[in-house]
Amino acid sequence: MTDLTIGQAQRMTAPAPFALLTSADKEGKTNIMAVSWWTYLSNHPVKIGACLSNKGYSGGNIREGGEFAICVVDEQLKDSALQCGRCSGRSTDKAAELGIELAEAKMISPKVVAASKVVFECKLSDMLEVGDHTFFVADVVSAYGDDSKKQLFAYDGYGRLGTAAEG
Ligand SMILES: Cc1cc2nc3c(=O)[nH]c(=O)nc-3n(C[C@H](O)[C@H](O)[C@H](O)COP(=O)(O)O)c2cc1C
Repeated sequence: MTDLTIGQAQRMTAPAPFALLTSADKEGKTNIMAVSWWTYLSNHPVKIGACLSNKGYSGGNIREGGEFAICVVDEQLKDSALQCGRCSGRSTDKAAELGIELAEAKMISPKVVAASKVVFECKLSDMLEVGDHTFFVADVVSAYGDDSKKQLFAYDGYGRLGTAAEG
């Protein structure tokens, strides 16, 4: 075996989970970001977490609004979902510009991605500052899905998306 940088290790440990995280800004507009660093944390109570760079727009939305959704999206969003990880909601209305349909959430104010296999609606419970990222811990207040859809995973770090079969 050879020594690895963290980037090399992350590229080698594929596929990684992938989701679109939605949050609402001060005006109530929903922003969408790509996220691989999300994880289940607890079953009783149901908690999940997502680790977000302190440079992005979404983290501030979550700090202020206390709500977000993790949307595990269908393969039809393969190209637009990747683009959600390559531009910021500070300067781009991603849903409008990338043609991603949003739907009203059941329990939170940010909208959710309509073409989702699974949606977790989340209310923030804890935050942990971790180096250049913040780990947001949340209670899942609603979960629903459509098992006929095909989930996307991340490959090559943040490089590309594909279904498990495409790996
Ligand atoms: C496949 C993929 C996975 C990503 N995963 C994460 C992640 O887990 N955490 C993170 O902070 N950024 C992640 N990013 C980068 C953000 O999505 C990117 O910085 C985005 O521009 C942030 O958007 P925002 O400024 O609108 O919040 C990922 C990007 C891609 C393409």
